Amino acid sequence: MFVSVEKLLDGLRSIPEEKFTCDNVYRFLSENPVDTDSISKYFFWSENFYTRNLIYKDERFEVMAICWEKGQISRIHNHWDQKCWMMVTTGKLRGQNFKVLDIDEKKGFCKLAETDQFDLSDCLAAKVELEEPIHQVLNLPEFDERAVSLHIYSKPYDKCLSYCRDTDTFKEVSLCYTSIDGKLCDGIKL
Ligand code: SIN
Repeated sequence: MFVSVEKLLDGLRSIPEEKFTCDNVYRFLSENPVDTDSISKYFFWSENFYTRNLIYKDERFEVMAICWEKGQISRIHNHWDQKCWMMVTTGKLRGQNFKVLDIDEKKGFCKLAETDQFDLSDCLAAKVELEEPIHQVLNLPEFDERAVSLHIYSKPYDKCLSYCRDTDTFKEVSLCYTSIDGKLCDGIKL
């Protein structure tokens, strides 16, 4: 039933370009829950930030294990035009989606409103809806445990827009990896 991450990668690589769609990859992930032991060598933990650990990257997609200590949350962010899927292999995470109520791109102004939310655990897969790509991922304190999620982004991306609800503003931010292929990246202090 559970597959190793190597098997998952083989399966993803074998999906032809024209079939690498939101729904097809989502179905593939739902049918191939990943065995946690096969990704544990990529886990790094920090009390200060959730860690982004690259497992695989090619021209078409990247796969990352994200490690969330209790209470850690992502920024509210978008994914440009990237397709993106996730699966929670350890613990539980809340996904919160947002819609844009009002935006002035020149002024960096953006007013958001919450839309739907969902909880993920037990290797359930989720996809980011391209029509509503702004979201936040939260390991809520009340979940009371560490969590790990496996993310697939296509194409790979290294920036996104980050939104602040206190000021109704947004800006571009760069994203970096904590580790690559099980090795901590230069300059990263956990
Ligand atoms: C991230 O990629 O840093 C955040 C996880 C996500 O919401 O996709």
